[in-house]
Amino acid sequence: MCGIVGYVGPRDSQAILLAGLSRLEYRGYDSAGIAVIDGDGDLGMRKRAGKLKMLRDDLEAHPLPDGTTGIGHTRWATHGGPTDTNAHPHLADDDKLAVIHNGIIENFAEIKADLLSEGYTFRSETDTEAAAVLLGREYRAAGGDLEAAFRAVVSRLEGAFTLLAMHEDHPGLVVGARRNSPLVIGLGEGENFLGSDVAAFVEHTRNALAIGQDQIVSITPSGVTVTDFFGDEVEVEPFEVLWDAAAADKGGWSSFMAKEISEEPEAVANTILGRTRDGQVVIPELDGLDDLFAGIQRVIIVACGTAAYAGMVGKYAIEQWARVPVDVELAHEFRYRDPVIGADTLVVSISQSGETMDTLMAVKYARERGARTLSICNTQGATIPRESDAIVYTHAGPEVAVASTKAFVAQITALYLLGLHVGRVRGTVGATEAAQHVLELESIPDKIRRILSNEQERIEQFAHWMADTRSVLFLGRHVGYPIALEGALKLKELAYIHAEGFAAGELKHGPIALIEPGQPVFVIVPSPRESAELQKKVVSNIEEIRARGARVIAIAEEGDAAVLPYADEVLHIPLAGPLFEPLLAVVPLHIFAMGLSMAKGLDVDQPRNLAKSVTVE
Ligand code: F6R
Repeated sequence: MCGIVGYVGPRDSQAILLAGLSRLEYRGYDSAGIAVIDGDGDLGMRKRAGKLKMLRDDLEAHPLPDGTTGIGHTRWATHGGPTDTNAHPHLADDDKLAVIHNGIIENFAEIKADLLSEGYTFRSETDTEAAAVLLGREYRAAGGDLEAAFRAVVSRLEGAFTLLAMHEDHPGLVVGARRNSPLVIGLGEGENFLGSDVAAFVEHTRNALAIGQDQIVSITPSGVTVTDFFGDEVEVEPFEVLWDAAAADKGGWSSFMAKEISEEPEAVANTILGRTRDGQVVIPELDGLDDLFAGIQRVIIVACGTAAYAGMVGKYAIEQWARVPVDVELAHEFRYRDPVIGADTLVVSISQSGETMDTLMAVKYARERGARTLSICNTQGATIPRESDAIVYTHAGPEVAVASTKAFVAQITALYLLGLHVGRVRGTVGATEAAQHVLELESIPDKIRRILSNEQERIEQFAHWMADTRSVLFLGRHVGYPIALEGALKLKELAYIHAEGFAAGELKHGPIALIEPGQPVFVIVPSPRESAELQKKVVSNIEEIRARGARVIAIAEEGDAAVLPYADEVLHIPLAGPLFEPLLAVVPLHIFAMGLSMAKGLDVDQPRNLAKSVTVE
């Protein structure tokens, strides 16, 4: 939530900031702004409500003078609506100082009241401006020492924040700090960058530093200094960004989502890559943790939204293979109910961004309670993996569309690898069985490719015909149930229509009352060859809803003849073992949700009210 970029170096910062913001726009897109210190040492600022394009158009019409030091921000509103005035940067100290912020300053009201009583004035309704005005005051008190003033300010703030500031008295210097909110440094030649994530600067450098919790960074063209909030220098971890700028570009696709769905096969393949040897799962990142895996009594998966549905799928596999009880908890509920956890609990967090505040807080809570933590994450250098005892990265590549697609299949893949690994360590899955599952997992990318080439056009066409639909239901059983939930979530967020997912067996306990003639219902049908008993049950559920007039769209295995008489439409997926079917069944649902959104003329990459990285609770 909110994208942040900072630059110091020899080049004109405006173009760099705007390019960085366009790569970060998925983090928030209700307003945007930049500030630069120009060649005469004056600070110029421009900010506009609306998408980044509004700011670009404004700057084209009325350019700011060139400047080589700058900061930029793209916002997802928390305090104060998305207006020009509430957009960042916020200025203070007679407009010589500019501040941008991501997160929520929980004690801003108290700070603001103090400053008001001292005669300071405010222009916006934001929490950020309290930090900006406070920094102006501290700057004067510190005799113009920006870094000392910045330390004083961040030590007083409560809540979650990434804060960047610059002052026209100090061209060539940008200071930043983070607490529970992301900030990474990009190291260039004679220039340096700051960003909410590496996308902000990946087209300029792939050498990065991850800043730790409660740390402050100062960048100048020639160097980077990182300290704690008391000013003591600290070591930071360098890393190389594993993908290049092209990976985060649309590359000729109509949308990032279209591109990312097309990358689902690679997301699975790359997550497996380097993690199997001689048919067995080998996860180098988990070396040395066998005692932990052998001793755990319980696994709790914490995540939100789509990532939580991946967790629900993973539960079936981990329980089956590793014979350890697995609970899946929405991260935002977890720590508010005094859960029973301890040293024998492994808390597995799943997060594409690695920054979701609810998930981060659940991980911290689990650690404080003595549990061990493992993070499944798609973003290098993100906060959640840094706060965890162990990390298994998904290698889905950068996901830019706000709604998650390729990261979902990568998360399930990582959970399956983890389940097999833990099962082998605990002796609950034999080498031969594990090898069969590995083979099956390795066959998934080609099967997804087959769905994309055989079914994508038809599904998109079908979505087009359904453009006026006002409600869609999704049914699934066993691992098909979380896929039904995922199908419904995607439709809500991308096409803004009522959609609900149900466990098919639950239907007769209430939801069947929703069925009326013409109601479209997607049904995920288990394989008749691999899960014959379940398949029969689901076919009975289909009969029940058909009898009440539902329009049934079945997602069924190629060649499943039993389902044909009961379905108005069948979307085919290749044969897969029972646990592996979700990796295939979700693909038509992703395509359908995207297709319906496009048919309605909506912005499929940036749905309304959402942001990709939810860094507030
Ligand atoms: C839905 C979606 C969200 C995210 C959720 C968690 O399409 O993208 O539900 O899955 O906000 O985000 P991460 O995985 O970044 O923690």
